Amino acid sequence: MRCVVANWKMNLHFAEASNFCAAFAEDYTPVEDVRVAIAPPSILLWTIHSQLRERGVTTFAQNGHFDSKGAFTGEISMSQIRDAACSGVILGHSERRRMFDETDETLAKKVAAAQGCKLLPLLCIGETMVEREREQTFSVIQTQLSVLKGVSSGPIWVAYEPVWAIGTGRTADARQIHEAHHFIREELRVILGEAGSAVPILYGGSVNMGNFANILSVPEVAGALVGGASLDPTAFAQMVKVAQSA
Ligand code: 13P
Repeated sequence: MRCVVANWKMNLHFAEASNFCAAFAEDYTPVEDVRVAIAPPSILLWTIHSQLRERGVTTFAQNGHFDSKGAFTGEISMSQIRDAACSGVILGHSERRRMFDETDETLAKKVAAAQGCKLLPLLCIGETMVEREREQTFSVIQTQLSVLKGVSSGPIWVAYEPVWAIGTGRTADARQIHEAHHFIREELRVILGEAGSAVPILYGGSVNMGNFANILSVPEVAGALVGGASLDPTAFAQMVKVAQSA
């Protein structure tokens, strides 16, 4: 299975999202075994769902709270995300870890809450440049993956997103991606047992039309979590085609 997920972050308004869907639908033909998801700002989730559900495109939220309801102004719960017809939720994106103090402890609760609501958690992990230079890449990844310990072995996707490659135009090279994905696979097997072999591991960080085919040819890369380039429907449709023909 291949997966291509658009992370729109805090971009686009209603009319732009609607135009994106119309343009994307023109270029997109679903293919079995290639999953396509869009994670827009939560206020646009229903717009995307209603325009693209018949094409088999699913929606992911970009974050969710672990409590089921209550006095948490500004938050949305996993069951509300599910209620908005999402199939998954991005968790632990480095922007949330860095700017909103997301911790591994909180993430463990979020992963469990998402699975409890039948949402697919897409757990993001990855090192900063300072950590890479200090040769801490693997230990950082190991710690971030440890949130999966004790979590039921429901479906989960992982995205390796080196922080230094996000929004910088600088992707990790094939060797760096291979090393990291191979290490993640081994860790997933340790934590989840046999189920760890089946977890799709996506790469994220400055993926675009020009580099996606090469990235996808790296062993253990099941697809991409695409930021900036996913805001352009033509570029995103092109990347989906790359995944479909890989
Ligand atoms: P860019 O593709 O813009 O580098 O963003 C990657 C990302 O953060 C996806 O979650």
